[in-house]
Amino acid sequence: MLEFQEVSYQYPSEDFDIIDRLSFSVAPGSFHCIIGISGCGKSTIFRMTNGLLQPKGGTILVEGQSIVGRKRYCGYMPQKDLLFPWRTVGENVALPLEIQGGLSKAERRDRAEAALRDVGLSGCLDKMPHELSGGMRQRAAFARTMLTGCDLLLLDEPFSALDFLTRISMQEWLVDQWRRHQKTILFITHDVEEALFLSESVLVVEHPPIRELAEIPVPAAFPRDRSSLKLPEMVELKEHLIDLLRKQVTV
Ligand SMILES: Nc1ncnc2c1ncn2[C@@H]1O[C@H](COP(=O)(O)OP(=O)(O)OP(=O)(O)O)[C@@H](O)[C@H]1O
Ligand SMILES: [Mg+2]
Repeated sequence: MLEFQEVSYQYPSEDFDIIDRLSFSVAPGSFHCIIGISGCGKSTIFRMTNGLLQPKGGTILVEGQSIVGRKRYCGYMPQKDLLFPWRTVGENVALPLEIQGGLSKAERRDRAEAALRDVGLSGCLDKMPHELSGGMRQRAAFARTMLTGCDLLLLDEPFSALDFLTRISMQEWLVDQWRRHQKTILFITHDVEEALFLSESVLVVEHPPIRELAEIPVPAAFPRDRSSLKLPEMVELKEHLIDLLRKQVTV
């Protein structure tokens, strides 16, 4: 579904490649979390994948084709929910349709209404973003990402600003969405437990600059519930991943 072939990236103000000949691939329909310490370049991988940043070298393929010159091959939910405060929730959600063009206002409204219903936000179409709770805003932002119609979804720390209980119900909700819509999901998180709950395998940045992503399978079957996190092999893996990340943090 997504393949990086020897991809490099250097920010103009830096004198090294933060992403250094990185190759990895993810299969269609899979769910992977990416974990790594702050500032290691995780969001940079997403920004290149969706075409916001141009790699210095290498090739990025989506469904076997280079992304160069292509549009609408992935849905991207940035690190903040970024709903426009001056637009209604429905107008925010319908934004990808507006950009794509070809649908009337009434058709866009109908599609936005259906997408909101799908994420449990019936009746929120004409509300303003500030009238929603944090979890509801994240679901609206997710509905907007879904309305891009893309099979590849890049979600950058979508739940990091949520309180613990909202976050765990959103995790369960997301697994359900993934299973129903059969999307390919890449999900960046700092929360190792979240990564273990959500992923089929975790992609770990073992040390920056990013030369490879270590793929670590998660030893629990789907459907999962939170008790899966208590399995001895899951507890062991969690501790292993925390150790691995802590070794890189210098304070
Ligand atoms: N526009 C920019 N110009 C120069 N350097 C940048 C720019 N954006 C990011 N960086 C640097 O590149 C590095 C990687 O940034 P990136 O946002 O990819 O990190 P991240 O792994 O997503 O971090 P976090 O977990 O904190 O979100 C950081 O050290 C950051 O300071
Ligand atoms: Mg980031």
